[in-house]
Amino acid sequence: MATATPLLPLLLFLTLATVSADKFTVGDSKGWNPGVNYTEWEKKHRPFHVGDWLVFYYQEGMADVVQVDEVAYNKCDASNPITNYSKGRSYAFELNHTKSYYFICSYGYCYQGMKLAVKAEPLPSPSASPSHKPSGAPSILPRSAAAVTLAAAAAAALAAVLRLV
Ligand SMILES: *[C@@H]1O[C@H](CO)[C@@H](O)[C@H](O)[C@H]1NC(C)=O
Ligand SMILES: *[C@@H]1O[C@H](CO)[C@@H](O)[C@H](O)[C@H]1NC(C)=O
Ligand SMILES: *[C@@H]1O[C@H](CO)[C@@H](O)[C@H](O)[C@H]1NC(C)=O
Repeated sequence: MATATPLLPLLLFLTLATVSADKFTVGDSKGWNPGVNYTEWEKKHRPFHVGDWLVFYYQEGMADVVQVDEVAYNKCDASNPITNYSKGRSYAFELNHTKSYYFICSYGYCYQGMKLAVKAEPLPSPSASPSHKPSGAPSILPRSAAAVTLAAAAAAALAAVLRLV
């Protein structure tokens, strides 16, 4: 048992390190579809960071993912896309830069809210203490809580193995 104890901080560190780049399913279980309020979805999941991924799941042939600038986003104007993706049923997009990203659907549903604006923020500095986290703390909390639970589960499993040998 005692041998497992020094491993706990290491496990915790490794687990936390692996959650730093997140994959977000746009719209959660509703996916990228008409009738979903993506402004609310964004509010629920922010902050987003450089290196995070947005995964759009849509119905084949029923939607596309068009990245536009802010002006085109406000007007639902897909005529001048930055990127344009419509193949298959899903599209994964990496937030490569610290900036705002705008996505719309060009199939006419944008006017009803099928549009997403996301701001990719710089990665939080690893040395920053948790108390310095910005107002987005509530959405970070479940993630770290999950990580702690995961690490605890891993430690428990390890302890069980060590008891066996
Ligand atoms: C996206 O690209 C396809 C093929 O390149 C084109 O047919 C379609 O019109 C484009 N859509 C938009 C909104 O630019
Ligand atoms: C992000 O960067 C990766 C690696 O540099 C590149 O493969 C990918 O196409 C980029 N994604 C976007 C959306 O620009
Ligand atoms: C989405 O929800 C926000 C409030 O969170 C509201 O202001 C906005 O009008 C809604 N958008 C649509 C298209 O219903």
